[in-house]
Amino acid sequence: MAVECFVTGGSGFVGQHLLARLSATGHKTWVLMRNPENIASLREQVGQLGGNPANIHAVAGDISRDGLGLCEADRQCVSRVSVVFHLAAAFSWGLTMERARAINVQGALRVARLAASLGVRLLMVGGYMVHNLAFLGRIGVDHECPENTDWPAVYSRVGGYEGSKLESHFAVIRYLQEARVDYTIVHPATVGGHSESGHILAGQPLVELIHNLARGRFKAVPGSARHWLPMVSVDYLVTLMTCVAFDPLLANRQVLALNEHTPSLPGLLEALAKTLGVKAPRRHVAIGLLRWLAKIPGLAARLQIRAESLNFIQTQRFDMSESQQLERKYRLTHPDMAQTLERTVHYVMAHLPG
Ligand SMILES: NC(=O)c1ccc[n+]([C@@H]2O[C@H](COP(=O)([O-])OP(=O)(O)OC[C@H]3O[C@@H](n4cnc5c(N)ncnc54)[C@H](OP(=O)(O)O)[C@@H]3O)[C@@H](O)[C@H]2O)c1
Repeated sequence: MAVECFVTGGSGFVGQHLLARLSATGHKTWVLMRNPENIASLREQVGQLGGNPANIHAVAGDISRDGLGLCEADRQCVSRVSVVFHLAAAFSWGLTMERARAINVQGALRVARLAASLGVRLLMVGGYMVHNLAFLGRIGVDHECPENTDWPAVYSRVGGYEGSKLESHFAVIRYLQEARVDYTIVHPATVGGHSESGHILAGQPLVELIHNLARGRFKAVPGSARHWLPMVSVDYLVTLMTCVAFDPLLANRQVLALNEHTPSLPGLLEALAKTLGVKAPRRHVAIGLLRWLAKIPGLAARLQIRAESLNFIQTQRFDMSESQQLERKYRLTHPDMAQTLERTVHYVMAHLPG
């Protein structure tokens, strides 16, 4: 049944694909936009991604403002929605704790308050590292008693983006449990391009990785042969999001969106390099050494080392049994990873030469 939805972050990479899917399946969708004058180009883009532009409507606002900065008329517009999808985030490396908290933590709580005031489910996009309990322990997150966590210390270890995504995860759940409002959280791995078109937006971590490989900046593989950077294609991700958002049995549950057949990092670099027609790095460099080098002023920029991005390269494997059950229920399968990577590289080189 078609319903009305509210989406934050609809102009972003995952958001555009979510809008395409929601609008193509008949849902009238209100998108929170900091720049609502861009609605015509967003509609056009959503149309190109297979959506129905006529179902997309903008409301002006900003998650860093009280009440999301919604005017009374726009608040009325969104009062009939059945699900609030929260995707908006400051998603970049080098964020200060203050900025990351203002948008990713306080902003997420404002969106949760809107869902609570409407009495509807919040579908929030988190991040898969919350399922890596060894990582949480190492960086000082007490996942059983999150209020005991020294968050500034966590931010200093993992940076503004990841620190704020983890803090917002626990803060939003706590708020919604107290408010007795349903939520569903989808935790994606690093998001790859669309499995058919390869579509992806500039600024995504995978685009940066492809550019660095293409320019020969990758001199060595971070970590060992067992390290990997778990990925998921954007089309699988948004399909899963829309399935769980409307599933009554998925209230107050969390779901991992991750393709466990993502190759190891050496294999991933090899696959990308092959499509690019460049040589993949063969030597390995310890992640601890890269972190140490990244602390030397000026060197991180010269060597293009993003210390924060190294958090996502790991040997941890994830328990995918619940996601697999849902895949059977929704008849959903991950698209072929090799093909997705190949198409993403072609898309990046044709449209985002960098
Ligand atoms: N992409 C990944 O690999 C990945 C992996 C795991 C989790 N995630 C999570 O998935 C979600 C979507 O990621 P993405 O890759 O689609 O991000 P993205 O392309 O960077 O898009 C971010 C979106 O957030 C909006 N936004 C930022 N600040 C805002 C504010 N103050 N008020 C309102 N909107 C604001 C942006 O709007 P403007 O157009 O106005 O800038 C944009 O629509 C995020 O929560 C991210 O943390 C992403």
